[in-house]
Amino acid sequence: MASLKVCVCGLEFANPILPAAGPPSKDGAMLQAAARGGAGGLVTKTISVDPADVPRPCIAEIRGGMLNTELWSELPKEQWLATEYDLARSTGLPVIVGLGYTAKQIAEVARLVRPWADALELSTHYVGNSIQPIIDALHAAKDAVDVPVFMKLSPHPNIQEIALALEEAGADGLVMINSFGPCLGIDLETGLPLMGSSNGFGWLSGAAIKPLALRCVYDAARVVKIPIFGVGGIVNGRDVAEMFMAGASAVQVCTEAILRGPTVYAKIAGELNKFLDSHGYKSVEEIRGLTVRLMKERGAPKPTHAPVVKMEKCTLCGQCEVSCPYGAIGIDKPGKMLHIDETLCFICGLCVTRCKLDALSLPG
Ligand SMILES: Cc1cc2nc3c(=O)[nH]c(=O)nc-3n(C[C@H](O)[C@H](O)[C@H](O)COP(=O)(O)O)c2cc1C
Repeated sequence: MASLKVCVCGLEFANPILPAAGPPSKDGAMLQAAARGGAGGLVTKTISVDPADVPRPCIAEIRGGMLNTELWSELPKEQWLATEYDLARSTGLPVIVGLGYTAKQIAEVARLVRPWADALELSTHYVGNSIQPIIDALHAAKDAVDVPVFMKLSPHPNIQEIALALEEAGADGLVMINSFGPCLGIDLETGLPLMGSSNGFGWLSGAAIKPLALRCVYDAARVVKIPIFGVGGIVNGRDVAEMFMAGASAVQVCTEAILRGPTVYAKIAGELNKFLDSHGYKSVEEIRGLTVRLMKERGAPKPTHAPVVKMEKCTLCGQCEVSCPYGAIGIDKPGKMLHIDETLCFICGLCVTRCKLDALSLPG
């Protein structure tokens, strides 16, 4: 069985799958449930100087993920300090304490949470798009505590610039990404937005944002040396493997942990193990940054021929045929054969990604 152990800034995680700040880390009891459910470490829900006044409804399941308008913890910081952090620490897992937002707020709360924190995670979600306020928040945390400080970024368009600036300013690690938006969903029965925020907008999370999260992690990993926690759209162990290949050193899960409950961490860890074993990897560390290295050495794939069909795996289900935009795929049911017409095939690759049985592959 491949090793899933990772060490990030001296924090040792038995596996790299942690709950993200949000409902899966909303209080001590939920964090204990995450530990029982197989999480490798804990991240606590973002707290700030005052409890959040969360508009409701604040969470909706939509195709591909969720919309939410949760702000930060609705529990007062005093409750976290009195009971919730103790419950998190009672698990014996490393505890990363989530804090927000401005330098002034961070200066006030960072010192208070220090006794429970193996590291801090600063959410920058409501600090805006300019870099300076984000750096000011980092400096406020670094002045207040002696534990690693991880900076959680929203999917900013200039992610490399921010990542580099934060590394230079002394961030110990990055966490990316927060949910994407603002976005809108409408309840067709009422005609009103799904979310109860003043403008009806919410933030998108879950499977739909995984490619965006992967791109952000990959872009940051190409320019910084500090570790990155990959967050966004992780649903299964293969998603974790992708995050590692993009350059992540550990991952966090929010939406899938809400939908499936706190046993999801062990399930995802099991799937990651299965992937690593089936591909001959001895540890998850082996695949960290693989895509960054391969892209440097070889560049993006450049196939020159139509996909190859492995008939022993093909069930003639027809999914590839119906969705081929070039009409290049034909099925001969009596002959039990799938044909790809080289002269029509544009080598777009869609059929290869659509076939869940691995019956199609691009040569070269
Ligand atoms: C209901 C909900 C509440 C959230 N609350 C927080 C929060 O308090 N602080 C924070 O930094 N991120 C928060 N997030 C963002 C998640 O931590 C995570 O970055 C994002 O959802 C992407 O991961 P996912 O696709 O696994 O959900 C929240 C997300 C959701 C869905």
